[in-house]
Amino acid sequence: METENRIRINPADERDLCEVLDIENSSFNTPWTLDFFKHELYNPVSFFYILKIQDKLAGYVIFWIFEDEAHIANIAIHPDYRKMGYGEHLLKWIFDFCRKKGALTISLEVNEINKAARQLYTKTGFRSVGRRVKYYEDSYDALILTKILE
Ligand SMILES: CC(C)(COP(=O)(O)OP(=O)(O)OC[C@H]1O[C@@H](n2cnc3c(N)ncnc32)[C@H](O)[C@@H]1OP(=O)(O)O)[C@@H](O)C(=O)NCCC(=O)NCCS
Repeated sequence: METENRIRINPADERDLCEVLDIENSSFNTPWTLDFFKHELYNPVSFFYILKIQDKLAGYVIFWIFEDEAHIANIAIHPDYRKMGYGEHLLKWIFDFCRKKGALTISLEVNEINKAARQLYTKTGFRSVGRRVKYYEDSYDALILTKILE
């Protein structure tokens, strides 16, 4: 990725929430609300980070760490910055971060029809370990994916 040295990943704060919400609304059929994001800023097990390319907020992630298990609760890249390697870059950064905090595994849920995300997770070493039937409001199933953080 040519832009590697222009990317910064920093903790989110209240001033970022407007841009985060814009990305969220353009990414999901049933987006998180502002209150959900605000809550995560102060949740003690939560890590809420934004990815900036130059000064543009281009993505975010929220993940939780419970002892040796990490879980990605939300992740998205701005539609204008997709398919450029930023999602993969952010995931690999998360893996390193969680390893350093002592996590041995990382998991997440993905909508079975979300082809882009499923490909990304397969590429980065996640494996499917289960399914939550009609988990999403559109009644599609969630696949439960997990990865060992080697
Ligand atoms: C899923 C998402 C985060 C991917 O981010 P991205 O920055 O576009 O992904 P990358 O450019 O890093 O792509 C890495 C790999 O993911 C897969 N991928 C990404 N977009 C894809 C697409 N539209 N179709 C198929 N595979 C895709 C490919 O395997 C790709 O590797 P390749 O370039 O060697 O083919 C992004 O599409 C997004 O924000 N979607 C909406 C929110 C979302 O679905 N979040 C995940 C919820 S579980």
